[in-house]
Amino acid sequence: MKMPKIIQFIVLSLLAYLFFKAPGFLLGKPIPESLIFMYMFFVVITILLVMTSTEKGTKELFSPIRALVEDPSKRLIRNVVFAVLPLIAIYFTYNAVKPSLEPPVELRATHPAPPATIKAYDKTFDLATLENPYRRLEKEDPAQFRQFVGEGGVIYFRNCFYCHGDKLDGKGHYAQGLNPLPLPFQGKDTIAQLQESYVFWRVVKGGPGLPKEGSPAISSMPAWENMLTEDEVWKAILFIYDYTGNVPRSWGKK
Ligand code: HEC
Repeated sequence: MKMPKIIQFIVLSLLAYLFFKAPGFLLGKPIPESLIFMYMFFVVITILLVMTSTEKGTKELFSPIRALVEDPSKRLIRNVVFAVLPLIAIYFTYNAVKPSLEPPVELRATHPAPPATIKAYDKTFDLATLENPYRRLEKEDPAQFRQFVGEGGVIYFRNCFYCHGDKLDGKGHYAQGLNPLPLPFQGKDTIAQLQESYVFWRVVKGGPGLPKEGSPAISSMPAWENMLTEDEVWKAILFIYDYTGNVPRSWGKK
């Protein structure tokens, strides 16, 4: 006996589906579900096109459906089918919109652990011992220190204030479009908590230098090693502490 067209259609579609699923089952390398969905769309359309290319084929394919709707003797299955189909639709729709009780994935750590060393400016910096070379001038040569802070201010307003703000409050005019937000240097939550070596790492390596805990957010903080000299970075750091009245953390204090 020849297989009815509609069964052929179902069998062919199932075979195609299994074919696309096979790499997942056999090799453990599944094709993404969304891609399979796309492939299946084309496969189903193609089978339908071939099957309905003649009038006879079309009739054969759709006659069972027609019979189901029109044939008085099929009343019972008709009613069952028309009750079950909407239930299936409800099931899938509900699953698609079901609210989830899982907390949103947001693992971003504001101050992730820094690497032990960084490579920049053709050198290796050991972050555990690295210090701002100009910090000691604060006591030893205050006039020179003020000048370097001033130079740091110029560097800041040429490079950083677009994002970190002219008041260093993280509200620069680009800030609105950025996620994560640029961090404020005012207040006690950011640079006040950090050693200057940590800040140096963050400025030099920027968002691209963040370790994995920094993801999934993509930080727009640039890697300034490409644009500023080592000297300029240290001066900008002097400035952001000085302007905000914050004192960098050092090994001596808590
Ligand atoms: C394009 C916008 C942008 C510019 C320009 C920019 N930053 Fe940032 N910066 C960010 C963003 C966004 C963050 C927060 C995400 C992160 O930590 O990477 C950040 C974080 C930082 C941090 C980390 C603070 C902390 O508490 O961990 C420091 C330090 C910093 N920026 C300094 C600077 C300096 C200095 C400049 C100028 C030389 C600068 N930034 C220029 C966007 C910017």
